[in-house]
Amino acid sequence: MAAAADLPLDQLDVINPESFEAHGYPHEAWERLRRESPVHYFGDSPVPFWAITKHADITAISKQPDLFLNGPRLFVHPEVSNMQEDLEAQQGFDRPATLIEMDNPQHSAYRKIISSRFTPAALKKIHAEVDRIARKFVDEMLDEADGGEAEVDFVDKIAAPLPIAVIGWLLGVPEPDWPQLYDWTNRMIGFDDPEFNPSDVESDSMTAMVELFTYFSSIVEDRKSNPQDDLITLFAHAEVDGQKLPPMDVLAWCQIIVGAGNETTRNATSGGMLALIDHPEERRRLLAPGNMRSGIEEILRWSSPVIHFARTVAEDTVFNGHAFKKGDTLALYYPSANRDEDVFDAPYRFDVARRPNRHLAFGVGEHFCAGAHVARLELEMAYKYLLPRLKEVELAGEPDRLRSNLIGGIKRLPIRFKVQPA
Ligand code: HEM
Repeated sequence: MAAAADLPLDQLDVINPESFEAHGYPHEAWERLRRESPVHYFGDSPVPFWAITKHADITAISKQPDLFLNGPRLFVHPEVSNMQEDLEAQQGFDRPATLIEMDNPQHSAYRKIISSRFTPAALKKIHAEVDRIARKFVDEMLDEADGGEAEVDFVDKIAAPLPIAVIGWLLGVPEPDWPQLYDWTNRMIGFDDPEFNPSDVESDSMTAMVELFTYFSSIVEDRKSNPQDDLITLFAHAEVDGQKLPPMDVLAWCQIIVGAGNETTRNATSGGMLALIDHPEERRRLLAPGNMRSGIEEILRWSSPVIHFARTVAEDTVFNGHAFKKGDTLALYYPSANRDEDVFDAPYRFDVARRPNRHLAFGVGEHFCAGAHVARLELEMAYKYLLPRLKEVELAGEPDRLRSNLIGGIKRLPIRFKVQPA
């Protein structure tokens, strides 16, 4: 494969799921785009799109939600048109939009439903439980070493089960069903990866979604007459303009929380571990007083698990001298923004004490991640308990990456570690 430095810009590959699986993030290609053509039209791509790679441009676009819409197309797929209307026609199923696919006025009305639950103050209430869940998984992994040394898959032991448990508990899903949440997430988000969807991209992820809807509908029914202090109850009783939500919208809420809350945090956790293995000095610095918060932000900047989300241009407009046509698709590359030389000093240095750190791992503007505080809490609890107990840690094999251009996923992260006595 020719190096990104030698290729014409139009041949840079920033969209094929196979390339992300084989090579990880194309930082060299993104850097060239930021330098030479920060708003670049890939007109020959089967689904043509504008690649937006600078921090300032992603911010400006995300802050104009009425001009740059989330609804019509959530992400660019290089082979299939995944415009909402085409998907519905193919699937013969009127799938309800989730929060992230809504535009105003519906988006702001629906966003209020969750906002009150995920503020830092409200999260104080869940602190103790997230703490307990994180400590349980850390202890179980450390027990494998029996006071000495062990080899484990970090994704299997901590990065995957921790967010599943937190999301399952927040939603109010009974614990024995949590593994099922894991399976649905893999099939819905890993739709391009043959390990999760062996037959066909569209149909397998669709089947997973229908299974998830069927499962949640019986819990929703229960919560209508038997309210609990959980998110399913919140959604089942939520009202917009004095009306209860349509039943399918309640299920779409459950789906977005399962889909958005698992795979992202999983890959920030595993991406963080990979970064800390690659930078042992930073692993030690993370434990110095006052560095945990900034270290978590740096892990988020560094790992940036969401590769891109798309926007659709609502009307002809000129952006930074480029003529966007109504209906054009924009891909916002968050990991590229997070290495932007105009925003970050030494952007390729992993620095757990980095301040300020205005990363865009959670997006920005109208659709800024609703679960950012939950994700930060999970990461903090996991590393707070784990790192002081690791005397040594190294890779025990190559990370196995997800085939996806949406999530920078690590399916397996084999590590070898020695335990520090408690
Ligand atoms: C490290 C973990 C996470 C990352 C990197 C992440 C990333 C993102 C990004 C980039 C967006 C913005 C999409 C856009 O602008 O179009 C987003 C939206 C969203 N995220 Fe997260 N997320 C994470 C964890 C979570 C968790 C734990 C939850 C739920 C508990 C969650 C729920 C949501 C929801 C509901 C939205 C849609 C918000 C809206 O459209 O108004 N996320 N996330």
